[in-house]
This record gives sequence, structure tokens and C-alpha cells, in this order.
Amino acid sequence: MSPSPRQYHITTFGCQMNKADSERMAGILETMGLTWTEDPNDANVVLYNTCTIRDNAEQKVYSYLGRQAKRKHEQPNLTLIVAGCVAQQEGEALLRRVPELDLVMGPQHANRLQDLLEQVFAGNQVVATEAIHIMEDITKPRRDSQVTAWVNVIYGCNERCTYCVVPGVRGVEQSRPPEAIRAEMVQLGQQGFREVTLLGQNIDAYGRDLPGITPEGRRQNTLTDLLYAVHDVPGIERLRFATSHPRYFTERLIQACAELPKVCEHFHIPFQSGDNDVLKAMARGYTQEKYRRIIDLVRQYMPDAAISADAIVGFPGETEEQFQNTLELVADIGFDQLNTAAYSPRPNTPAALWDNQLSEEIKSDRLQRLNHLVNQQAALRSQRYQNRVEEVLVEDRNPKNPAQVMGRTRGNRLTFFEGDINALRGQIIAVRITEVRPFSLTGIPLVAAMATL
Ligand code: SAH
Ligand code: SF4
Ligand code: F3S
Repeated sequence: MSPSPRQYHITTFGCQMNKADSERMAGILETMGLTWTEDPNDANVVLYNTCTIRDNAEQKVYSYLGRQAKRKHEQPNLTLIVAGCVAQQEGEALLRRVPELDLVMGPQHANRLQDLLEQVFAGNQVVATEAIHIMEDITKPRRDSQVTAWVNVIYGCNERCTYCVVPGVRGVEQSRPPEAIRAEMVQLGQQGFREVTLLGQNIDAYGRDLPGITPEGRRQNTLTDLLYAVHDVPGIERLRFATSHPRYFTERLIQACAELPKVCEHFHIPFQSGDNDVLKAMARGYTQEKYRRIIDLVRQYMPDAAISADAIVGFPGETEEQFQNTLELVADIGFDQLNTAAYSPRPNTPAALWDNQLSEEIKSDRLQRLNHLVNQQAALRSQRYQNRVEEVLVEDRNPKNPAQVMGRTRGNRLTFFEGDINALRGQIIAVRITEVRPFSLTGIPLVAAMATL
């Protein structure tokens, strides 16, 4: 191996999948003897794990990359890597745009980082974007949190939403075997982790590519089966999962969530639009009525469940009236949180080529109006926590107030209270809520009711 790099830096853009991939890649780099540095300018290996879901996400990468490419002219030993979804989308074109790059690697190659870097250290410029079967991860990820962890259960997406780059950059669905998922979780439990979020772009598709039919003719290895299969992992006290697709969300899954005590009452179910014609143009495969029925059913089983979602405004051809239908859905449902975005035309997606694109003015006006409503709704939804006693899993110190710790309720509300992080990290504490804000809470711990794990 030629130059001997010692420090690495990773900047991660995008969704939880990318964050989970970054943790695994960091684990690989540490196994190779590198140590983490916060400042990319101190690092011998700089890795950008990128996102291309919207144009602004992609552009951010180029500006970061430009600075490091410049630095490479003074420090030729610098190894520059672009991983993730922009890497997959652009492939070799990235090398033409930024010739200083050493390695361009798509998300399916994250677990192969060591192998790829060895090729780089031998003097090659490497592009790894071919579709592959994702190897089981045998490394030890460097997890950001000591309390909560992500566990991938299915990679890729087989949907064809007309606005979305994910199927193109993440490839076809590949489920991990339930035994591998359980084994990872058992290890997490032993290491002191308390909460696991099972991850997939379309998690309801879990297991479709795995064998197995029950004697009654039902498909085995569904997400519901997986929840039952991992529910008793010692030490893991809370389970979450994301992202759910309304097309496949089943009553059997809702029942399981209500029945299994560790599954938290929080559901992230993106609806994207409240208008049936827009949903059809998006190829989402459900109507707003079906979406409402799902939420009703969730609330029938778990009246207090927190609901979050994603929505897009300004999809090609969206009329003011159709946008009003989105506002109406949001007003009726009352989301605890909603990620909103203006539609951004993406390469290699059908909707980007349509000639009924809306102006940026209309899109940003609608985004503002929707966000205004979302904030009102979140404030209203937060009210219900006032004076209640909530279980909070303590994750960390409040970065803005070291006398406080922070954690999440089962409904995923960020909650702060006074306490010593060293004594409380990883514990589930009963907290009386004294202050509510739209997206966070403050409370007083009920020490007598403290549930020490
Ligand atoms: N798999 C998830 C979401 C994946 S992407 C699902 O099916 O819902 C995360 C969010 O980004 C999407 O829910 C969508 O709201 C948003 N998004 C995706 N493509 C977009 C685009 N071209 N323009 C604007 N927002 C987009
Ligand atoms: Fe994209 Fe649709 Fe797949 Fe979600 S389900 S990742 S929005 S294609
Ligand atoms: Fe972005 Fe890729 Fe996730 S495009 S949202 S990082 S799957």
C-alpha cells in the first residue's frame, strides 16, 4: 500500500439509509487503522456520501467537493471518495467533472470499501457502480449513537414513482435474511443499545424476494413476521421501522404493532399528495381515501399513535385545486410531523420530461402555505402531551444546554429534561411534560417511577 493514510472524514447527505451506510463505511476505515477527524481538511481520506433526491441535495456535494479537489493539488496524498446516490447516478461522468477523484462508488458497494480502497492505493482511479448482490456486512459499524441504532432490512426499491431517483440509484429490492437481522440486533443488545429502527426505502416490501410460504398459503418473511421474530431480542427495548408505503400497509401489520409492546406507536407513512389524479400521475398506487382509511385503522388500534409523512408540492400539472386537496388532507389528519418538499425534476425519471412543469414561484408559494399549516398542526398535536407522563429513552446531552439530557418519547417527540447524561444515557425515564413546542417537549423526571433497565 503506497501512502499511509491515518485520518478519515465522512460527510453524509440524505436519508437514514445513507447514514447507516456511512456508519458501516466508517467501521471499515477504522478496521483499516484510520481514525475519525471532524475537520475534512485534516483528513487523508475524505468521503462524501451523497444524496440526489432533489437538485439542491446534489448541488451541495459539488461545492464541498470543489474545495477538497483544490486541496488535493497541494496534498497529492489526499484520497477523495464520492459514495452514495450521486456517485451511482453520475458514475464515470463524475471523474470527468472532478478528475481529482480517486473513487466513485454506488450505495450497493458500501460494504466493499476496503477492497476498493486497496485498488486505489495500488494506483487506480476506481468506479464501482455496477449492480451487485449486496454482501452481508461482516464489519463493525461505527455507530453515531450509543443508544439507538439503524438496522437495514431491505435495500433498494422496486416501485416506480414517476418523480423518484431511488430505484435508479439504489437498485432492485434485496432483503436480508431474518437470521442475519436478528444476529445483528442481538449483538446491538449486548453492546448496550436500547432502540433499533429497521430500515428500508419501502419496508413493506421486506421478504418478497425471500423464499417461504406458510401451510395456509400466506407469504412468510413479511415485515410483520420479522417484527415477531426480533421482538424478544434481549436489551432492545424499543423497535421502530421506516419507511412505510400506503400501497402495502396491512391491518395485520397494524395489529402486530398494537400487540407487540416494544414497537413504538409512531408511523412514518408518506402520502405525497392529497389529490387522486396527482397520486395517479405519481404512480403511487393508492387514493387519498385509502390513505385516510389506513390512518383511521392505525388510530383505531392505537388512538394516540404519532403519524408522520412526506409530501411533495408543485408536482407537474398540479392545479391550485389539487394542491388544496393536499392542504385538506393535512388539516384532517393532523400530522405530528411532515417533511415537505417542492417537486424537483430528476434525471432519468419520467415526470422530469413532462411539459406541464410549474414555475418555481408557484412551487415555493405552495410550499410556504403547506409549511404554515404543518407548523400549526404540529403545535396542536404537541398540546396533548402537556402534563402527561411520557417514557423517554435518554440518548444524549442537550447540545444547547449541558444541564439537560435529551431523548425521545415512544411517539418520537424530542424531549429535554434536567439530568446527568452519564447516569441516564440508555435509560427509559418517566417524565412529566411541563412545556410543549411544535416539535419538542420539556419535562421533569419522575425519579420514583424511574424504570432502570
Ligand atoms: N421511500 C419513501 C421515500 C423516499 S425519498 C417513500 O416511498 O415514500 C424521501 C422523500 O423525498 C419522498 O417521500 C418524497 O416526498 C421526496 N422526494 C422524492 N423525490 C422527489 C422529487 N423529485 N422532488 C421532490 N421531493 C422528492
Ligand atoms: Fe421512491 Fe417511490 Fe421507491 Fe419511495 S417507493 S423510494 S418514493 S420510488
Ligand atoms: Fe437521497 Fe439516496 Fe436516500 S437519493 S434520500 S440518499 S436513497
